[in-house]
Amino acid sequence: MCGIVGYVGPRPALDVLVPGLEGLEYRGYDSAGVALIGSDGLAVTKTAGRMADLVSALESQPVQGSIGIGHTRWATHGAPTTGNAHPHRDCDGSVAVIHNGIVENWAALRQQLLATGHEFSSETDTEVIAHLIEERAGLSLADAVREVMKLAEGALAIAVVRTDEPDRIVAARRGSPLVIGRGQGENFLASDIPAFLKHTKNAIAVDDDRVVEMTADSVAITDLDGNPTPIAEREIEWDLEAAEKGGYSTFMLKEIYEQPTAITDTLRGRIDGTGRIEFSELDLDTKIVRMIDKVFVVACGTSYHAAMMAKYAIERWTRLPVEIDIASEFRYRDPVLDDRSLVIGISQSGETIDTLAAIRYAQAQGATVVGLSNVVDSALARDADAVIYTRSGPEIGVAATKTFTTQLVMLQLFGLYLAQQRGALDPGTVGNLVAAIQELPQTVERALKLEDQIREMTTEWSETRDFFFLGRAGDFPVAMEGALKLKEIAYVRAEGYPAGEMKHGPISLIEKGVVVIGVATDSHVRAKTLSNMEEMKARGGTIVMVVEEGDEDDVASVADHIIAVPDSPDLLCIVNAVVPLQFLAYHVATARSLDVDKPRNLAKTVTVE
Ligand code: M6R
Repeated sequence: MCGIVGYVGPRPALDVLVPGLEGLEYRGYDSAGVALIGSDGLAVTKTAGRMADLVSALESQPVQGSIGIGHTRWATHGAPTTGNAHPHRDCDGSVAVIHNGIVENWAALRQQLLATGHEFSSETDTEVIAHLIEERAGLSLADAVREVMKLAEGALAIAVVRTDEPDRIVAARRGSPLVIGRGQGENFLASDIPAFLKHTKNAIAVDDDRVVEMTADSVAITDLDGNPTPIAEREIEWDLEAAEKGGYSTFMLKEIYEQPTAITDTLRGRIDGTGRIEFSELDLDTKIVRMIDKVFVVACGTSYHAAMMAKYAIERWTRLPVEIDIASEFRYRDPVLDDRSLVIGISQSGETIDTLAAIRYAQAQGATVVGLSNVVDSALARDADAVIYTRSGPEIGVAATKTFTTQLVMLQLFGLYLAQQRGALDPGTVGNLVAAIQELPQTVERALKLEDQIREMTTEWSETRDFFFLGRAGDFPVAMEGALKLKEIAYVRAEGYPAGEMKHGPISLIEKGVVVIGVATDSHVRAKTLSNMEEMKARGGTIVMVVEEGDEDDVASVADHIIAVPDSPDLLCIVNAVVPLQFLAYHVATARSLDVDKPRNLAKTVTVE
């Protein structure tokens, strides 16, 4: 939640901060602001609304400086007003702070600061940091930030400037993302790499409880006691073009079309010449793989739908019992975990705080944690005992698309890997499924051809308020994902439901005007799903059937519309079936002139509980 950017170097800082923040708007976009240190001291400009509003404010009141920090906000504490927009200042205006996360003990800290005479000008938790730094005016800025980081509880990525040290930014991280970009005679910081990728490809991921002191010529990182810590710099492989729209009208559409490439990249190097699965980055002892007696999968949102599929895949192929949990619920049900438990945490961003809390809880009970993330060096990647990466490239649209399909592919491959390593499936069966997984880039490419059909179909639904997405077994997570996509970007009620469960209550909602989308690609359960769809038709629902190519005749009598996706064996067809539902949500939303890349009330990365 929230995007932060910082720059120190010879250029006008705004030239870096404004485009950087525009690239980070997916992290929050209810207000934005910048603070610059120039010849006239510290200048802060901030506005409620989107980056365009900040840009207009900066045009009417230009500010200058070659060192600055900027922020785009997703409100947690305090309404999305100009007063609550970041940066926040201390009483005399010599300190400016931006923050991503939550200072959990802010109320107590604020009371203490009020008692000692500090005056607050916002309702935010962040402002306490500015005043706590003000209290430490006798210390260097870096020492002051180190002390404040020890006092503040919760998730923090902060960047601070102070007028008496006008050549530097001091930043710190605990729990929220922070990356440094190292340039030639200039340095950058941001919540995410695309914010500075145009300027440098050399990035340093900052660990938790580290403080960074950055001038134009130097980057120093210490722990909270001031001890220097090693700096691991790496070169980013993808370029800025990958993070931009590339000719599509929206990031979401571009990312839907990138799925074949994303799957190809994700599979690269994972299958050797003989068809064996290899995860070179997975630092997991074979002994542990053999010893596991239970698997848990934890995730949120779309990643949870990938977890639902993982349960079917891992149970079917390894015969290990698998439990799945929405990450924010996991800790509270007192799950039975021990050193024979394998916990898979799925998070494309690798920064979702609920998922991080769930895996940390599992580790404390002795479980082994494997993280599945799209972001290299994310908190999930670093906290997990072992990590597997999807390689989707940056996903900017708030709605997860290519990161979801690559998660599905990776979890299928990981399920087969476990089966391979544990000898749970014969090598021939593993080999056949692996060969089919390698076909997925082509089958998804064919599924993309359905866009025109789906766009045409959705023109009828401009006024429709109620959608149901139904499926059984492997088709159920697809239905859930179809409903979530439609809800989040088109703002219509959409329920994902197990097809067989409708008759136990929700069927009373079916009447003329309700659109019911039945996903029936899994041959084990197709006939039963079809019977359930007949029940929906009998009550007046408009019926859309998603089936495998070749099965169209079987559903012709029930369906008002048929979407035929390329067939793939076993659970693999799920990957193909997701694609038309992404288009469906996309075209319902764009027909309503909605901003699909930045749906209201949402943020791409959810770093609050
Ligand atoms: O980064 P994560 O995969 O942990 O994110 C989890 C959810 O916040 C995310 O999938 C969310 O539901 C998406 N907006 C769905 O499109």
